[in-house]
Amino acid sequence: MRERVVIKWGGGLITDKAALKTVRTDVLDNLAEQLEACLDNEMDVILVHGAGSFGHLKAKQYRLAEGRVDAQGIEGELTQDEAVEEVRQDMLDLNEHVMKALTKRDISAVTLPPHQWARNTGPNFDGDLSLFEGAPPGIVLVTYGDVVECDGDSEFGILSGDDLVVRLAIELPRVKRLVFAMGGVDGVLAEPPQPDKEQNLLKTLNKKQVFEGDHASEIDVTGGIGLKVERGFRVLDHGVQVVLVSGETEERVAGACLGHPVRGTTLVA
Ligand code: IPE
Repeated sequence: MRERVVIKWGGGLITDKAALKTVRTDVLDNLAEQLEACLDNEMDVILVHGAGSFGHLKAKQYRLAEGRVDAQGIEGELTQDEAVEEVRQDMLDLNEHVMKALTKRDISAVTLPPHQWARNTGPNFDGDLSLFEGAPPGIVLVTYGDVVECDGDSEFGILSGDDLVVRLAIELPRVKRLVFAMGGVDGVLAEPPQPDKEQNLLKTLNKKQVFEGDHASEIDVTGGIGLKVERGFRVLDHGVQVVLVSGETEERVAGACLGHPVRGTTLVA
């Protein structure tokens, strides 16, 4: 029986976060090669990618994560509705780069943009995952962080790739692992990275270390990586392995997907 892996390519990994709408093509090409190694080893892949400099800057400027806000609270020449459309288009553009990297390697992949099938935000978002389930073996299904419609007054919001992976990893059958491929770090660090100092990597991480006890405050899990760790533990609770690795080396993402020991952080119960 073929197993599945859910992979998240972080937006900070596949784009240059400091430069608006700039793709790291060499990184994408390398990640595609590593994804191919999974398929070659009979492992089916669900790929989720982030936004990086294709989504976050405009989403932040127009406060899209907050949903509908008073027009006076917005600084910029677009309305929020126009910004929603532009961010969705920017994400389609980024997705096209991702798909190009996959097709260059003859990988068959299909994208399901969340604004077409998902509603509401957070790890309990609404949306039918059966389209992901029905894919023939070897076909990669791709989705990504996006602006989606929301119930109630908020009208819209940002559904993060870190939330998409939770439901995909828990609800799809045969998922063996969830792998977060990140930029700039080797995994979860015991302290923030410092120049000229080797990263103090936590090879394993349990809930206690993060959420309680003496060490909790020492571990830097704020912001992006904190969300991944919190979402990761939800997935681990359902018996799916969770590994966080650097996506900037030649083999760690593929190794983590295939269950090989690689430098990175493995969540443990
Ligand atoms: C964010 O998605 C989506 C938008 C801002 C439109 P993610 O939360 O998955 O993106 P990254 O990985 O942090 O860039």
